[in-house]
Amino acid sequence: MTALLTAEDFLRAFHDRTPGLQSAATEAGPAADGTTSYQALAARVAGARRVLDLGCADGALLDLLAGQGAEVLAGIDLSAGELALARRRPALAGAELHQGRAQELPFADDSFDAVVSHMALMLMTDVEQVVREAARVLRPGGTLAVAVGGGPVAGEAIELFLTLARPSFASVPAERRMPRLGDRRSRSREGLDELLVPAGFTPVTWESIAIDLGGDPDHCWQTLTRAFYDVTTLDQAQTAALHDAFLTEVHPRRNADGHVPCGMLINLATARLG
Ligand SMILES: C[S@@+](CC[C@H](N)C(=O)[O-])C[C@H]1O[C@@H](n2cnc3c(N)ncnc32)[C@H](O)[C@@H]1O
Repeated sequence: MTALLTAEDFLRAFHDRTPGLQSAATEAGPAADGTTSYQALAARVAGARRVLDLGCADGALLDLLAGQGAEVLAGIDLSAGELALARRRPALAGAELHQGRAQELPFADDSFDAVVSHMALMLMTDVEQVVREAARVLRPGGTLAVAVGGGPVAGEAIELFLTLARPSFASVPAERRMPRLGDRRSRSREGLDELLVPAGFTPVTWESIAIDLGGDPDHCWQTLTRAFYDVTTLDQAQTAALHDAFLTEVHPRRNADGHVPCGMLINLATARLG
């Protein structure tokens, strides 16, 4: 019998196989005002001198934070492959980058002015422990700022993709199915308050932004098949059928310059440690 992968094994293996995908998609998919979700999140911790990124992957957000003046930079991620890319960034030459779990932070109490996490907290199991650890390493009055997925923009290509893909995802045999990732509470405002307030944080301030991962139909397909972890569980025939169905239905949605809107909501939540 094949042993089922844990959520962390699944994530580690995925990111080790394909490091750098998340940052490439994020940097190519800004909001209507041209701001990426990295920039929107970084703005929430402007002025912080010591910053830790939970699930930092290839260090794209830390790089941006270095550019806005943060002097002490640290990151933690499950994936050695992602961290290898982070270590190549000149701006992160002095950063403390650890392979490990956000549930067990290798940092002293009160070490940071801000803790950030972009599209990662929502994937973490035992998120209460992650929040306790964030509170422990933050100084009193420090800021926790996270970006979590808010789902597809209604009527656009991501919604179409998921409508077509869900039956295939559901039909994957149990031994190949993706493990359940994260805790639903970390995706909603109420859920985050439920997690953060008992650990000593204020209720979150909350903002939703829409980013556009669109382009021509092939670009959308490439981006979406990389953005959704579940796609890796489909077999060749399922992937080919999904590809054909998606391209057939997405073609008529092109606007005059061939662009297919492919909007995704990102929720930005910020809380202060009391
Ligand atoms: C969707 S990616 C986002 C990466 C990066 N924050 C970005 O937006 O470019 C999620 C990242 O979180 C990391 N991750 C997930 N659970 C983790 C945990 N418990 N501890 C540390 N890293 C974790 C994964 O390895 C992966 O690199």
